[in-house]
Amino acid sequence: MSAHKIIIAIDGYSSCGKSTLAKALAVKLGYNYIDSGAMYRAITLYFLRNNVAMTNHAEVIEAISNINLSFVFNEHRQASDIYLNDENAEPYIRDMLVSDRVSEVAAIKEVRTFAVAQQQQMGKKKGIVMDGRDIGTTVFPDAELKLFMTADPEVRVMRRFKELYETNHAITIEEVRHNLELRDYIDTTREESPLRKAEDATLLDNSLMSREEQLEMVLEMVKDCATNKKQ
Ligand code: CDP
Repeated sequence: MSAHKIIIAIDGYSSCGKSTLAKALAVKLGYNYIDSGAMYRAITLYFLRNNVAMTNHAEVIEAISNINLSFVFNEHRQASDIYLNDENAEPYIRDMLVSDRVSEVAAIKEVRTFAVAQQQQMGKKKGIVMDGRDIGTTVFPDAELKLFMTADPEVRVMRRFKELYETNHAITIEEVRHNLELRDYIDTTREESPLRKAEDATLLDNSLMSREEQLEMVLEMVKDCATNKKQ
């Protein structure tokens, strides 16, 4: 497509297909895809493994100083795996144990400051698609293209259930529903960078859209951005 590289910020509720779209866009455009949620999940994994008391300010700060996060491209997945202190954390971070606590961890100011600084660094060269909750509002307020994704809550529950059921046959629909509702509630009501649509973001409800339709539509938007040269 265009040589003029931009930043694409994708925000939205839990499990509404942000990463599927972000990954497909990155592959099509030859951009880097960064799953910012994986960073909060990896930090949560560290906190859980090391029994960090999440309400203890000093413990949280100490723990963060011991965390090193990096992304390494995985050819098989066509996306990057997150490394937590040199260990590939990808196999553990989608676990329900992590999902149940991640929004609590992501609401901590120091955790966000730590993650956002790295995310902004990764966007310096542009040519990046990043998805999360505060990408268009806080991480890249000047992103050339901002999308805010949503989908019918039941559609989201069933999508995530099917995804998790592939590796965990013990999971129930009720458990998934509870987790999505809880995370959406914490993410939208927290004090630090709550999930909200940036004023200049385009709302995308994909309840009734196929992945292909959605990708085509957003690729058109990217083309427009690149030709408008909103630099
Ligand atoms: O499960 P899903 O893919 O929808 O979520 P995720 O992108 O893996 O993010 C997991 C959690 O991390 C969210 O529920 C938020 O609490 C937090 N998060 C955040 O606060 N800010 C971001 N930019 C990304 C994720």
